[in-house]
Amino acid sequence: MSSKIQTFKTDDGSVTLFDPTLNAHYRSTHGASTESTHVFVNGTRLPQRTSSWTVLELGLGGGMNLLQTLKTHKEQSTSGQLRYHTVDWNPVTAKHIRELAYETQGFEESHIALLMSLLEKAHNTPDASSVEIVSEDGSQHITLHIGAWEDIDVTALQADAVYHDPFGPKVNPESWSTPCFTWSFNAIAPHGILATYSAASHVRIAMVQAGYHIASTDGPGKKREITLASPDPDTLQGYKQLSRERYLAKGQAQDT
Ligand SMILES: C[S@@+](CC[C@H](N)C(=O)[O-])C[C@H]1O[C@@H](n2cnc3c(N)ncnc32)[C@H](O)[C@@H]1O
Repeated sequence: MSSKIQTFKTDDGSVTLFDPTLNAHYRSTHGASTESTHVFVNGTRLPQRTSSWTVLELGLGGGMNLLQTLKTHKEQSTSGQLRYHTVDWNPVTAKHIRELAYETQGFEESHIALLMSLLEKAHNTPDASSVEIVSEDGSQHITLHIGAWEDIDVTALQADAVYHDPFGPKVNPESWSTPCFTWSFNAIAPHGILATYSAASHVRIAMVQAGYHIASTDGPGKKREITLASPDPDTLQGYKQLSRERYLAKGQAQDT
């Protein structure tokens, strides 16, 4: 991990991290917290689920999605357990989270402490392929899988929500490919929803090639559109459904 990672204040006042070596922000500069809530937590419709929540995230990064999910889960008095599985091949340090949390309002200290303990465990156990942490009341279980997504077996998860959140295709091309979406397709529950900030055509092609049905909705702030996907088209009702056949044909045209 680059030790040069810095904090960056985004347009909604929340803070994200910036890696100058990759020239990549961990969340949108137009509003880190807004993007997290709109795209990932609400996009996957987790708050509408009254039973337990299982989340698979590609890219723990600065932990904004995790903190927003812990907060929303705690506020939902009817919800059962939260099982949050996140994958990252280059976890940041607890020190970076402390700096980020120091500048961001609105997160519970106990949630920040959970995220920091998770990262401390990861950095203090160099050979571990995963580390886990559980909240004091036992209702929130977080597992960080350390490694490249293709090396992590998540097939048994039955995730209600997939947060597809690597850096953009220029920095992480392998994470926007058909094999990557096949990896999450094998982990998602039949009525689960994948959400991502990308609306790129090649990303949507990779999703349908992996087996997903796809839809779009308005993006946060100035962003026009984001993409949602599910194994079941009915689960995407209420979003603008996109033609699976059209994107499959586009993919075929690309390959010839
Ligand atoms: C955009 S940041 C994630 C932001 C984070 N979800 C948040 O809310 O702050 C992308 C993260 O994905 C991780 N990543 C990218 N490609 C990966 C891969 N192929 N396997 C595992 N982790 C990957 C990076 O190390 C980075 O931490």
